[in-house]
Amino acid sequence: MIPPTAYAPSQKALHWIIAALVAGLVPVALTMANLPDGALKNQLYEWHKSFGLTVLALVAARIVVRSLRGAPPLVPGLPAWQRRAAHASHLALYALIVLVPVLGWAGTSACCAPVLMFWTLPLTLPVSGGMPVGEAILLVHKLAAFTLVTLALVHAAAALHHHLIRRDGTLRRMLPGRG
Ligand code: HEM
Ligand code: HEM
Repeated sequence: MIPPTAYAPSQKALHWIIAALVAGLVPVALTMANLPDGALKNQLYEWHKSFGLTVLALVAARIVVRSLRGAPPLVPGLPAWQRRAAHASHLALYALIVLVPVLGWAGTSACCAPVLMFWTLPLTLPVSGGMPVGEAILLVHKLAAFTLVTLALVHAAAALHHHLIRRDGTLRRMLPGRG
């Protein structure tokens, strides 16, 4: 495949929509987990699950576009270790952004069926084992989510380093409407 010279508008839109949703999902998760039982806690769980599944659907679309179209090569002039770090961290971000919602979905299906997306669409996975299995999966979900957040922060810091210190086009080419 000949690599494109720029990210497609769909790739940019999906990148930023997914990043914004993750940035909203994490504080909602921390809040819901620490609230006393009640209507607000239940509401936040439902919003968390529905928007988490939305992220998974958007990531699936993103991976399809990425495999059909590829991505532009990294900006020239980077030392070899930075090229390796960029490729490895992008791969890890893709893996985690799939794994985190899949684990949340599987854990919730085991412990707390039915899983309804936005109170309507039934999406329970066939995961048996009940509460003990569900709780174990959700613990891994939480650890994977914190790993994702840490890596995304390092990734964002690297993007800002490119923009403010190296002053290359790395951040600009992921922004809407630019080259
Ligand atoms: C990218 C998407 C997602 C992110 C970033 C995310 C993040 C998190 C985080 C950080 C926690 C830990 C909260 C805490 O215990 O302090 C959490 C908990 C939880 N998540 Fe997600 N989540 C995502 C998707 C999902 C999905 C798709 C589901 C289910 C369909 C789900 C169900 C849950 C549940 C049930 C808990 C509570 C676990 C407990 O009470 O111990 N999450 N999530
Ligand atoms: C949950 C949050 C985020 C995730 C999961 C994520 C994930 C990714 C992935 C997987 C790529 C590689 C794209 C590809 O090659 O197909 C990428 C590229 C990029 N991301 Fe993020 N990202 C997040 C947040 C951010 C933030 C907050 C910034 C900026 C402050 C940012 C800036 C960039 C830039 C500039 C690129 C292009 C890098 C290049 O082409 O060399 N990302 N992101």
